[in-house]
Amino acid sequence: MHLTKDEEKILNSEKGEVMERLFRLLVRLGDIYGADRMIPVGSVQVAGVSYKSIGDPGKAFLEDIASKGVKVKVLTYLNPAGMDLENWEKLGFPRDFAKNQLRIIDAFKQMGIVITSTCTPYLAGNLPRFREHIAWSESSAVSFSNSVIGARTNREGGPSALAAAICGVTPNYGLHLWEKRQPAVKIKVDADLSFNSDFGALGYYVGKQVKNKIPYFTGIKNANTDQLKALGAAMAASGAVALYHVENLTPEADLVEKKGLETVSIGKKEIKDTYDKLNSGKNPDIVIFGCPHASLREISMIAERLEGKHLKKPVWVCTSRMVKEAAERMGYNEIIAKAGGSIVADTCMVVAPIEEMGYKTTGVNSGKAANYLPGFCKQEVCFANIDDLIGGQL
Ligand code: F3S
Repeated sequence: MHLTKDEEKILNSEKGEVMERLFRLLVRLGDIYGADRMIPVGSVQVAGVSYKSIGDPGKAFLEDIASKGVKVKVLTYLNPAGMDLENWEKLGFPRDFAKNQLRIIDAFKQMGIVITSTCTPYLAGNLPRFREHIAWSESSAVSFSNSVIGARTNREGGPSALAAAICGVTPNYGLHLWEKRQPAVKIKVDADLSFNSDFGALGYYVGKQVKNKIPYFTGIKNANTDQLKALGAAMAASGAVALYHVENLTPEADLVEKKGLETVSIGKKEIKDTYDKLNSGKNPDIVIFGCPHASLREISMIAERLEGKHLKKPVWVCTSRMVKEAAERMGYNEIIAKAGGSIVADTCMVVAPIEEMGYKTTGVNSGKAANYLPGFCKQEVCFANIDDLIGGQL
């Protein structure tokens, strides 16, 4: 890979030992994947934030880097942490867990990273532009930024994203290149998709079919950004899909090469079978919305349905701190709290230790959460649309 004179200096340790270590990681990645050079990134999103995921070794690694005084070069956000960073005590998060989580957050803060623990940075002040190169980590955020915004990112691991944040560059390979953004399979959809969970079911099914390839959808007549984020998140979870195109809806759909693609057809039956497959439990002891983190529109829909209700079971709505504040101003927080629910910021059902908090069966409307909860959190899952979750089972 071609390196500039300044980049050679970093490798020669002229900019400090930490910079050298992190830049070397980027060079190694670039060499493995055949990158020709480094490219500047506009923003970064770093995964590996929850104490549940990274444990003591991750905490020690981050505290070591922070102690050397290095700072990030570009706007950098965090993936969800393992708890609500402000309301953890009230929500029942274990004290020991909280202590460790707060040390991790403090290490990130010392590096100049914005303390916004969210998988929807684009809803919380970190919005890339079309064709901007970025280095993001969380799979649904990667999918949304590549597909719906048309920005360009590979799915970074925690360390490579941190390296990109501190060095301000990423190796030029994979989804940074136009030729690697071309679809490999056409998905013909013939089904009514009304609820966000329908898009989650579709995404889960397609992810399993295409596995890592780039799909080009036809037949999706309309979808708002919440539905596209549900679709992309589920596909990323079940099939590691980091980019998709939707005819007439996503910005690169008109530009990519569609001739001669193998076609997979999906109808009502496949969607219904996916709902059945993702349902492993009955009578959830908690319902959690907000995977990916809820938008203001999604929170308003939940508040509307909870108004005047008295819940017998807890309901969480996971979102970013910024969206939570906007929801508070609109009074949604109060409506949800009066019904017995909570808007939970900074974390989510998968990276929070919900199994340690005594929950065994979780209700979700997210295809991604339904995919991960059994493995990551030992949960049985009720996967359903918002109306069935709120109207039917609470
Ligand atoms: Fe976000 Fe957690 Fe879902 S990180 S996409 S809410 S599993």
